Amino acid sequence: MNGTPAIEAVGLTKMYGNFAAISDVNLTVKRGEFMGLLGPNGAGKSTTLKAITGLLMPTSGSVRIAGIDIKDHRHAMEHVGCVIETPEPYPDFTPAEILDYVGRIYGLDSREIAIRSRDVLETVRMWDWRNKKVGEFSKGMRQRIVLAQALLPNPDTIILDEPTSGLDPRGMIEIRRTLAELKHRDVSLLISTHILSEVSEICGSVSMIRDGHVIASGDVSTLIHRIGASNSVTLEIRTLKPLTPQVISDLEHCQGVTGSEKMGEYMIKLEFTGTSEEQALVNEVAFRSGLGVLALNEKGANLEDLYMELTKGDEIQ
Ligand SMILES: Nc1ncnc2c1ncn2[C@@H]1O[C@H](COP(=O)(O)OP(=O)(O)O)[C@@H](O)[C@H]1O
Ligand SMILES: [Mg+2]
Repeated sequence: MNGTPAIEAVGLTKMYGNFAAISDVNLTVKRGEFMGLLGPNGAGKSTTLKAITGLLMPTSGSVRIAGIDIKDHRHAMEHVGCVIETPEPYPDFTPAEILDYVGRIYGLDSREIAIRSRDVLETVRMWDWRNKKVGEFSKGMRQRIVLAQALLPNPDTIILDEPTSGLDPRGMIEIRRTLAELKHRDVSLLISTHILSEVSEICGSVSMIRDGHVIASGDVSTLIHRIGASNSVTLEIRTLKPLTPQVISDLEHCQGVTGSEKMGEYMIKLEFTGTSEEQALVNEVAFRSGLGVLALNEKGANLEDLYMELTKGDEIQ
């Protein structure tokens, strides 16, 4: 059924003695949706993903994958590729051997394994390394092999727990690029991360988790808009000729401008909280200044602002 969510977790709670690692976590990933599960270390991301993939039994709550209860584990996980808590591939094996092994577990025949292996190794850009031992690879390359393993059975749904953690910047970029490319395939993705920018880069929606509770969830752009509406934006104006005191004063006196910061001779940042009409007038003033406007940028609220807003008052004591 098309309306059936890829993943539906309802009221997930996991107790360790009196401590709730996660508490009443609700999460729905629609088909084709890319959702980020965002939260700091210890927030409950791995616990949530383990409960969703049936690696641990929640104290209460239920999970359905493509409409199938996770208690029917084999059936529910049939179309899921997942990597939870960074496993390491065997160092003495080559990617080709590892994928052959994984393919057999999934019951694929040799021909299917050969076709699928090539496809996933090309996707993660490791085809040229297929016959080299994994032990010689960098961490980023090993992580891409792990990702290839998850992709091998051609899953409808992919669940990844912090796939870029511990990687150098290049390794991170490679993994993110691969994940972004998955958008061209008809898959749903649930990815946990503690990196905000990773969510806005890869995901359309986000669930923010903190101390085991989901504190916000929804469409990334809707959430950003919601806080954007209550916050100021920054207007950045860059000019061809040096800014004059007169132009600066004119800009500062525009309706809606609540602050300004001169960034060298040719650029000024204005803090703006007015209406769209007022914002258009600020632009008019800039264009009529005779200084030549080279660039006019609006920097709105972003996920970072939202995260700060939501965790306000929670500063480290
Ligand atoms: N097996 C366990 N026993 C006791 N506490 C645990 C166990 N696993 C996780 N926790 C605790 O549950 C909380 C959430 O952990 P986890 O889901 O691993 O967080 P994250 O993946 O977001 O870093 C942490 O406070 C962690 O210490
Ligand atoms: Mg974790």
